[in-house]
Amino acid sequence: MNNWNLQPSCIWFTGLSGAGKSTVSTAVADRLRQGIASELELLDGDVVRTNLSKGLGFSRQDRDTNILRIGWVCQLLVKHHASVLTAAISPYRTTRSEVRAMVEATAGGGSFVEVFVNASVECCTARDVKGLYARAIRGEIKEFTGVSDPYQAPENPEIILDTEQETQQESVNKVLDYLKEYRA
Ligand code: ADX
Repeated sequence: MNNWNLQPSCIWFTGLSGAGKSTVSTAVADRLRQGIASELELLDGDVVRTNLSKGLGFSRQDRDTNILRIGWVCQLLVKHHASVLTAAISPYRTTRSEVRAMVEATAGGGSFVEVFVNASVECCTARDVKGLYARAIRGEIKEFTGVSDPYQAPENPEIILDTEQETQQESVNKVLDYLKEYRA
C-alpha cells in the first residue's frame, strides 16, 4: 500500500477489554506506516496508563480524565498535521463525543474516525487474555467494564469491526479500506 496521503486524523478504537483494540490498531498502524507521508502515533490505553495517566483508577471520573487527556494529545497531534490511533476502552458515549468535538475543532479541520471493536462480554470472557474477567467475576476487581461497570456502545461509529466473526486481517482491511476512501 503506497502513497497514503491521509488527512490529519484521529482514529479512535473503542470496545471492551480483550475485544481486539490493541491488536487491530497496532496492525493498522504498521500498515499505514509503510506508505504514509505524514507522521503517525499510536496511543494504547495500557501504555497511557503507565505514564500520562499513571495513578488513575477506573471510576467514571478517572476514566473520563484518562480519555480527555488522550483526546487532548490527539488534538495536539492533529493540529500539527500528524495522525493518531488510540486504543482505550473509552466506555462513555458523552466523553467520546467530547473528544470528537475537540479533534474536529482543531485548526485546519481534524477528522475523527470512531472504530467500534465489537465483541460480546461472553466472547471477551472466554478469551480472557489477561485473566482479568475471571478475577472480575470473582469480585476481585471492582468496576470492571462489561462485568460490573457499563460499556456504552457507539450509536453511529464510522466503522464497526465484528472481531467475533472476522479474522484479524479482515478487521484491519476494513479500517484501511475506509481510510482509503478518505484520503486527502
Ligand atoms: S478506560 O475505561 O479508561 O478507557 P483503559 O483502556 O485506559 O480504560 O484501560 C483498560 C485496561 O485496564 C484493560 O484492558 C485492563 O487491562 C485494565 N483494567 C484494570 N482494571 C480495569 C477495570 N476495572 N475495568 C476495565 N479495565 C481494567
